[in-house]
Amino acid sequence: MREQLVVVNFKTYETAHGIAAEKLALIMESIETDARMIAVVSAFDLSAVVSVAPNLEVWTQHLDPISFGSNTGWLHPETAIQRGAKGTLINHAEHKVSIEHIAMLLDTVPEGFTVCACAADIDEARALSALMPDYVAVEPPELIGGDISVTTADPEIVSSTARAIREISEEVGILCGAGVKNGNDVLKAIELGTSGVLLASGVTKVEDAAQALKDLISKI
Ligand code: G3P
Repeated sequence: MREQLVVVNFKTYETAHGIAAEKLALIMESIETDARMIAVVSAFDLSAVVSVAPNLEVWTQHLDPISFGSNTGWLHPETAIQRGAKGTLINHAEHKVSIEHIAMLLDTVPEGFTVCACAADIDEARALSALMPDYVAVEPPELIGGDISVTTADPEIVSSTARAIREISEEVGILCGAGVKNGNDVLKAIELGTSGVLLASGVTKVEDAAQALKDLISKI
């Protein structure tokens, strides 16, 4: 069986940036689970989060396919890796990039550095899968940040995207996200053919993040 992932995107939520990012990372690190739990943090918070929670897997929220040199303001993969990033999201609905950007990024990062490309729909998931990232995460933009999990609101997009990705590649991992809040949502995601979930507000905006995380992993 493939490993199962719970990927928590900190975005720029007030409750998940700066010192709050470090506190949330510590909570995530303290959760005992066989699932692969990942914090996806702002580039500004990367170093601090990695040093405060060294046993937690940490990704960045975006990278640019650039090398050392004259690249003012761009997010350099090698610097992220040196600062402890083990992977990145790319093409999130809130930070879209071109397909060329993603292809070049995949050529830039070393083997073992995880790239999860986000797709808004099945066609985009197909196009991204052909590039062979480690994961493709399908997230219908209209459900992001909402109260209803994609696995309930639109289970068909999850299962059909999972099938479409499998037609293209056996290797590309499949995630889904948008509105995911609890263990039932995660279980449903797995039943629909994914290896887990990408979520944000279900952890970053709740009163008791530890409890939310325990619930999320309770059925895997
Ligand atoms: O990257 C995860 C995100 O877009 C989903 O957000 O708040 O619906 O879990 P949320």
